Amino acid sequence: MLRRFHHTQPESFAFSEENRKWAEAQITKYPEGRQASAIIPLLWRAQEQEGWLTKPATEYVADFLGMAHIRAYEVATFYFMFQLRPVGTTAHIQVCGTTSCMICGAEDLVEVCKERIAEKPHQVSPCGRFSWEEVECLGACANAPMVQIGKDYYEDLSRASFETLLNDLQDNKKPLPGSRKGRFSSEPESGIKSLSEMARQKDEFSPAVSLAQSEGAS
Ligand code: FES
Repeated sequence: MLRRFHHTQPESFAFSEENRKWAEAQITKYPEGRQASAIIPLLWRAQEQEGWLTKPATEYVADFLGMAHIRAYEVATFYFMFQLRPVGTTAHIQVCGTTSCMICGAEDLVEVCKERIAEKPHQVSPCGRFSWEEVECLGACANAPMVQIGKDYYEDLSRASFETLLNDLQDNKKPLPGSRKGRFSSEPESGIKSLSEMARQKDEFSPAVSLAQSEGAS
């Protein structure tokens, strides 16, 4: 997909006082002369402040870091974590559509987005509060299918649990991120297998041990 700045842009951008202090602190994490390495967190913060990443915000961050504007444009237009056009004011939903998620039901989630938000990706809903897009693998394949909203992952979704998630957002609730099947992380759905359990079971299941035991018995 061609990624470029939206044709309508605000006049200007400036970090809020709080974000400016935060950005100055981030820059101190990098060695002298390498401040430009802070570009991704600063662009992300600018996006969080505005809801999407505007061209003035990108230029502001470039100036903040003493970089040429073109260098900041390159970063902003390369990573799809940066939204270059207005998004829903409540949530922009990124639905993973890559293999694991697709096999486990991502197409159902896309259908729900089309029904409830907008027919096309990147279109803002009539109420102005929601938008969606399909993205490539977000690295939570073991908990497929999943969506990302802001910094949060919502995993092990089904059509029903995704609808509930949207209802909660619509009611201004803050849904808890994570699995919708009660998993803590990406452990097996049948429960956690601890290392000590594995050690105990090794004797039972090791072919070498079983063979020795059967030879001893004969
Ligand atoms: S395939 Fe969806 S998170 Fe990897």
